[in-house]
Formats: sequence, structure tokens, C-alpha cells
Amino acid sequence: MPNSPVTNSPVEPFDYIVFGATGDLTMRKLVPALYYRFCEGQMPGDARIIGTARSKLSSDEFRERAGKALTRFVKEPDLKQDTMRQFLGRLFYASLNGAESDSTWDNLTGLFDQEVAGRIRVFYLATSPGLYGKICHNLADKGLVTARSRVVLEKPIGHDLASARQINDEVGQVFEEKQIYRIDHYLGKETVQNLIALRFANPVFERLWSADAIDHVQISAAETVGVEGRGDYYDQSGALRDMIQNHLLQVMCLVAMEPPGSLDADSLRNEKLKVLRALKPIRPEDVAHVAIRGQYGRGRIGEAIVPGYLEELGEGRQSHTETFVAIKAEVHSWRWGKVPFYLRSGKRLPSKHSEIVVQFKETPWSIFPSKLQANRLTIRLQPEEGIQLSIMSKDPGPDGMVLRPANIDISFEKAFATRYPDAYERLLMDTVRGDPVLFMRRDEVETAWTWVEPILEAWSRHPDTLHYYSAGTWGPEAARRLIHEGGHAWHEDM
Ligand code: BG6
Repeated sequence: MPNSPVTNSPVEPFDYIVFGATGDLTMRKLVPALYYRFCEGQMPGDARIIGTARSKLSSDEFRERAGKALTRFVKEPDLKQDTMRQFLGRLFYASLNGAESDSTWDNLTGLFDQEVAGRIRVFYLATSPGLYGKICHNLADKGLVTARSRVVLEKPIGHDLASARQINDEVGQVFEEKQIYRIDHYLGKETVQNLIALRFANPVFERLWSADAIDHVQISAAETVGVEGRGDYYDQSGALRDMIQNHLLQVMCLVAMEPPGSLDADSLRNEKLKVLRALKPIRPEDVAHVAIRGQYGRGRIGEAIVPGYLEELGEGRQSHTETFVAIKAEVHSWRWGKVPFYLRSGKRLPSKHSEIVVQFKETPWSIFPSKLQANRLTIRLQPEEGIQLSIMSKDPGPDGMVLRPANIDISFEKAFATRYPDAYERLLMDTVRGDPVLFMRRDEVETAWTWVEPILEAWSRHPDTLHYYSAGTWGPEAARRLIHEGGHAWHEDM
């Protein structure tokens, strides 16, 4: 197994109990992440992973499914048959109905005898958020919650502010805030964490990190995939709830926040919260201009013709759910003044990449005959994690001062010659270690909903605000107009 920058510090024996264990997230992300941690020797001898869901499966059948998922989602050189067999031996399954307090819970409680009573227990809820409260109450009624238990809540927490509050209240009746881990896997991405290092360990950037030098910021998460098998969830959610309310706003917080007093969880979360609170509220009458939404139709990505969103949902389905969002946000603070933060995310775009583009201001005056391009810092979150700084440089040759842009480019993977672990690897182990730094606090989640809600309301009142785009393009034309109006251009058009 290649070197990994994930901390391999030993963790205590634990039981990891996943609700929604037969679902896409468990098979695609959680099982492979735990497999990698197992390979790196971070799973103590008797640690167990216990899957629960309503399907009636034996532990062996669950292992078989998990084995297939590993074959599909773990890269070939990392799949060792022997190791895989040992890992699968740590998996168990309890069929139960998490929403009901019925006798199916005996299948789970039966796995916890005196011997494991004092161990760390992590309950990972990868179900529909509407079930979080009920599952937590059932966990308490069945006597499964101990002082050493934690609960992990997958996003989105609710579908609006009221439902988020309700979930937080219900979960909070069973678990203390310090036991609740609201996961946002973008915070577990190496380059997102590196943003903290970049800003606060390198004064060369931090001195310039404000409206004085920065013209605007773009944060994009582009995907080529459509909704595929997740249509039922996605159609109730849409890109604003699925990506912006959590992932992109969290990344924006790390870009925009003030230096925290220390690296402890609350110092960091307090600073992120200040950013969310400083977001300029979007008035209903402005939504159509500053929050563009779109839905993809049939199109071409690379060589493949791909179906439109409605086709993917199934015959005869109608929907106004957005698969693309571009928003102009502003953080009203001394540091940022009126610097626009353009947030954009969409499915079925031409390429898969997530990045932050910090566009610096132009020189106040130019002494050169060639046109100067303002400096730009691009932080690539994925793929090919790295940083690129574009600078103006003299073209070598005898023709005088002819300038052209050149790049200082650091690929983290090459620079550190290391495997870049999936975000879930880090985050799952953090929940075992009890380290909440990279998780969202209740007030952050609710403040993010407060900002997003007027947009959702305006869209639901005005279905005609939905634009259309062909799969394989960069979203609707209106998204281009949004950024052009500010005198800017999306990175791919620069
Ligand atoms: C998830 C969303 O949180 O993030 C998905 O629910 C999306 O719709 C995914 O595809 C994107 O994550 P990543 O790490 O591939 O950018």
C-alpha cells in the first residue's frame, strides 16, 4: 500500500454501526474507506463494522455485497484477496427497522454483550434525514447509547431551516452536541484542509487575502455524472440543497474566514459561523438575477450521448428540480467589502473537477506594451489536487519586453509522492478518535439554511426561473450572463 498522509495514529477498539448499510453511500464510500483504514493497520484487532437496514440479509450476504463494492470502488493494485477476506470478516449485519421501536432491534442489541459495553460506538446515519430523530430515540430506548457513543449525521440535515431545527432538536434529546458529528465530506478533502495551511502558514498569501488585492473568487464543483440511480433522493433535493447549502458554503467559509485563534474545533467553527452570518441576504426580488438554476437535457459528454434529467427520472416524470446552480454571494465584512464569491455546481457538465479560483486585481498601471493578465491562484480540490499561481513573465528572446502568462504549478500528489486518501477515510477515523474539527456545528448548519431558504422559496414560487442546458455544456447561458454582468468570466472562459 502506498504511503498515505492520513494520520495512522492508533485508535481504540470500536464498533461502527451503519444505518442504511445497503445504500449507495455505504457501498460506494464507507466500506471502501474502512477497507483502506484496515489495510493501513488502523483497525484494532477486534473492531467491528455492523451494517443495519431493513433488507433481510445474513452477515455473509452483507459481506458478499460489500466484497462486490470493494471490487468496484477500490483501485486494482490496492485490492488484495487475502486482506479483503480478513476485512470482510469484521463485517456483521443486523436487519432492523430503524424507524420503529419493534423487536427487529433485538438483532442489533444481541450483538452488544458485556464484553463490548465500554467500547467506542459510532452510529453512522446514512438514511433519509427524516429518520434521524426516530433512530436516535430508538437507540436510547434500546439502551444502546453509552457515554462513549457518537452519532454521525450525513448531509443534508433536513430540507429547510425548520426541518433542520427539528432534526437537531430530536437528535439533541439523545446525544450531547459534542457527541454529534455532522459530516460534510468536502471538509475531509486534503486540499480543503490544505487551504487552512495555505492561508495561515504562508503570510505571502494572507497579506493579500482581502478586497484590497482580490477582485473576485469562484468556487466550482462540476460533475459529469447525472443522477443515475439516485433520482428519488435527488429530485426532492436539487443542487442547492445537495451541494451549495453544505459543501460549497463550507469551502467558502474556509476561504473567507478570519484566522482562528487556534486549531481547536470551536475556534474554527466560530470563524466559519461569522462568515455565514455575514453573507448578504438575497432578497426575493433579486433571486432570479443572482441565483441561476438549470436542469440538463440530453447531450453529449466526450463520445457518449447521455440522457436528460427527466429521462433519467423515468418515463412521464415532470420536475422543476435544479441540477445546476450558479450564485453570486457577498460576505459583508471589512475584509471582503463587495468582493463577489461566485458559487457554482452542476451535474452533467463537460468535466469533473472542483476548484477555487482566487482572481487578483489588475496592476494599477502598466509600463508594458503587452496586455497584462491579473494574477490568479487556482486551488484544485479534485482531481489532481494542487495549486497553480499564474503570473506574468517575460517571453525569452530578443524581442524586448514581451510578456506572457506562466504558471507556478504544484501537484500535491507529485510533490508528496503519496496516495491521496478519500475524504471519508479521514472523517470516519476522526469520529472514532473523537475529533470534531472537520464537522459542522448545529449553528453553522442552521445559519446556512437561513441564507439558502429565500432562494428556495423564490424558486418554488416562480417555476419559470428554471433554465435548461444540454448535458456536456457549462450550464445555462444565464450563468454566463450572471458573471459577465459583474465584469468577470468563468474560469473555463478566461
Ligand atoms: C454528495 C452529493 O454529497 O457529493 C452528490 O450528494 C455529489 O450528489 C457528491 O455527486 C460529489 O462529491 P465529490 O467528492 O465527488 O465531489
